[in-house]
Amino acid sequence: MESLFESLIDGVLEHQFASVPDFLSPELLAGLRSNLQLRLKNGDMHPAGIGRAVGHQTNASIRGDLISWVDDNPNNVFEQEFLTIIRRFMSYLNQTCYTGLNAMEIHYAIYGPGSFYKRHKDQFRSDSGRRYSIVTYLNEDWLPIDGGALVLYPENEAEKVYFPEGGRMTFFKSDVVEHEVLPTVRPRMSLTGWLKSV
Ligand code: OGA
Ligand code: MN
Repeated sequence: MESLFESLIDGVLEHQFASVPDFLSPELLAGLRSNLQLRLKNGDMHPAGIGRAVGHQTNASIRGDLISWVDDNPNNVFEQEFLTIIRRFMSYLNQTCYTGLNAMEIHYAIYGPGSFYKRHKDQFRSDSGRRYSIVTYLNEDWLPIDGGALVLYPENEAEKVYFPEGGRMTFFKSDVVEHEVLPTVRPRMSLTGWLKSV
């Protein structure tokens, strides 16, 4: 795990973002995916807000996902395991980069066919606590024809495209890296979170 942490941190220091495959074990991936599917079946996934007011546009014209927040102290073993990994990553970052992170928030997200999230940044003026974004995908057998790519626009580099392959984790600086989710062809599942200093 520590070598994955290292390569994520090296990437962010060098390029403002990083992405690694196989961040989750197959068991943890399957457990988290079935949690999301159960929340969806139970009607617990809801349209996401978009932070700053954006005039009269409806949310779905900017982002079309449904989300459900993960509890800080979950009962579910897979969520406990995931939070333990992310907390270890957060302390590793604090120890190696003096980042002063002290909070996090994580939600499940599902984009139905045709949904997308227009180009944006994750840190709003009203929410400067978001320092790093972490997106972990929960999909099975994703193919490029399934769409739903994440496109990152780092400040001084060419854009970078990642498909939402199960177990992949993408990590970037919330305040500087603009990004978008291209329309997906099939349901696209993830756990998206933010490391914060509040
Ligand atoms: C977000 C977001 C990216 C993704 O939820 O803010 O940009 O790949 N998600 O799901
Ligand atoms: Mn985002």
